[in-house]
Amino acid sequence: MCGIVGAIGTQNAESILLDGLKRLEYRGYDSAGMATLDAHQTHIRKAVGKLGALASLLKERPCPGSVGIAHTRWASHGRPNEINAHPHQFGPITIVHNGIIENHAALKKDLLAQGHQFESDTDTEIVAHLIAQFKKEYPTDFPKAVSKALELIHGAYALAILDQDSPDTLIGVRQACPLVVGLGNGENFLASDFPAVLSHTRRFMVLEDGDMAILHKDRVQVQNIHGEIQTRTPITLDWSPATAEKGGFKHFMLKEIFEQPQAVIDTLRGRFSLGDLELVLEGLQTDLLKNIQQITIVACGTSYHAGLIAKRLIEELAQIPVEVDLASEFRYRNPLIRTSHLVIGISQSGETADTLAALVLAKSKNAQLVALCNVVDSAIARLCNTSAGTFYTRAGPEISVASTKALLTQIIALYLLALLLAQQRGLLHAQTLEKHLDSLYQLPLLLEAALKQEPEIRQTAKRLAQSENILLMGRGLLHVAALEGALKIKELSYIHAEGYPAGEMKHGPIALIDEKMPVLVLAIQGMNYEKTLSNLEEIKSRGAQVFVVCNETDHELRQAYPNALLIPTCSPYLVPALAVLPLQLLAYHLADLRGLDVDQPRNLAKSVTIE
Ligand code: AGP
Repeated sequence: MCGIVGAIGTQNAESILLDGLKRLEYRGYDSAGMATLDAHQTHIRKAVGKLGALASLLKERPCPGSVGIAHTRWASHGRPNEINAHPHQFGPITIVHNGIIENHAALKKDLLAQGHQFESDTDTEIVAHLIAQFKKEYPTDFPKAVSKALELIHGAYALAILDQDSPDTLIGVRQACPLVVGLGNGENFLASDFPAVLSHTRRFMVLEDGDMAILHKDRVQVQNIHGEIQTRTPITLDWSPATAEKGGFKHFMLKEIFEQPQAVIDTLRGRFSLGDLELVLEGLQTDLLKNIQQITIVACGTSYHAGLIAKRLIEELAQIPVEVDLASEFRYRNPLIRTSHLVIGISQSGETADTLAALVLAKSKNAQLVALCNVVDSAIARLCNTSAGTFYTRAGPEISVASTKALLTQIIALYLLALLLAQQRGLLHAQTLEKHLDSLYQLPLLLEAALKQEPEIRQTAKRLAQSENILLMGRGLLHVAALEGALKIKELSYIHAEGYPAGEMKHGPIALIDEKMPVLVLAIQGMNYEKTLSNLEEIKSRGAQVFVVCNETDHELRQAYPNALLIPTCSPYLVPALAVLPLQLLAYHLADLRGLDVDQPRNLAKSVTIE
């Protein structure tokens, strides 16, 4: 999730672009850069690290000119260094890009065969070469050259493009990644997100997939790649800059909960095709996984819960024994590790001290290592890249301390890994694999459906907001969802919430249950449902306030237990992914109703880089 800003007008573009990047800082970045045109020269400045590095560079070497583009990079692949930082230039073309060009390898191979040479290992640079190549065919038609290049690329992209030979023109392209046009007086703008240029204009055109916006200082035209004019009605935004950073949501956490369908789409993108049923888990040395006899997963907090889900998926699909261990325990228990062992470290930040230490210990015992991270080139990723590699989730920057979209994308990535391990062992027929991939393909729509329950979930939160304790229970994978729900409620609302296996209720926790103890039970058909119904009866008979998470189609259960959080029916492998969503929203609204700092809960940090 990179940040793009563009400007064309009569003012010096540098200050507009730098200010725009600052307003996109919340999107996270590991490098930043800018390019401007004056007369017929392109000025490019790039710097690794925080935005201050670019600002200092510009103080020494300003970027003159009244048209320009700028970029903050959240690396999705290619190391975060100056060479890979955007903008990228080839010939007269300079470009910044957010997204992923799925067929970048094939395009690069063709261009290399034609004698092209590349400086970076990004997919973006390839697009600059393609447009420059078509500019030779259409020397006076910049938009045409861009259109011809777009016909060749597949994937998700938002682009801002300059042509040294067309200093009165700035082009923006949108395909599955956000891009808006800011409409000023005698100046116009491009941005990944409204906040970048909200201080210059409140009038915007929101581009749609397939749109190419051609900006001049006094007019904007939108067309598709075939040159057909598109009508995009301008909107006027009355958000404050702070509200705009959160996309109109009250908190980053709520924005990130609602980003989950897109995060899942991004994490799946390019990693399998329903056509040839090939799984492509780039970044993993999959040959090193073929002879693995035993897997241990090490992680902390929510990532540990993702590991518990992965255990069930890998054992069932690939029939490899899996242990899941809290990293803080693993690192001190002198674990039995052999060379046929794979140790997987799950970490959103890739910097969690206990998880890193656990992996260092595993490496010292000659295990193969795999990292599942959301931050490219993080410490855990770098360590595991010396072994079997890193598989990245593509959740984009997760700003809120509470992990939500990171967890969803971890579950999806681990599901793909389980399928790959099963395929390697000849345990997965093509038809079965197709069914799994098809259900993954449907997940974003199911998540969207589950998100529509938010108003009812807020009402449920109102009934629980004064509670001092909440007991959550479920069986099998729903026990893991209960653990995650309890963690979210604890860390956000400071209510003491406990997740427990429902089958254990009579071995202790039932003593807690009375009319003062609210109990939330996850009861989904096909997930040891009948036994869970018995648990519900036992709880109800003791006078507790009962809440359930159940399928929206389970009308009988909803009749018996009207305090229901509903999820759509789905494949049993995806139930945890859907079941945690109402619990995330419940925890969010409990914290909001209690007037707490949702995005920065007390005593917590986004990444626990110390023990
Ligand atoms: C989850 O909401 C918490 N923020 C916390 O438990 C987190 O999952 C844990 O600290 C692990 O972080 P990591 O995934 O970055 O390693």
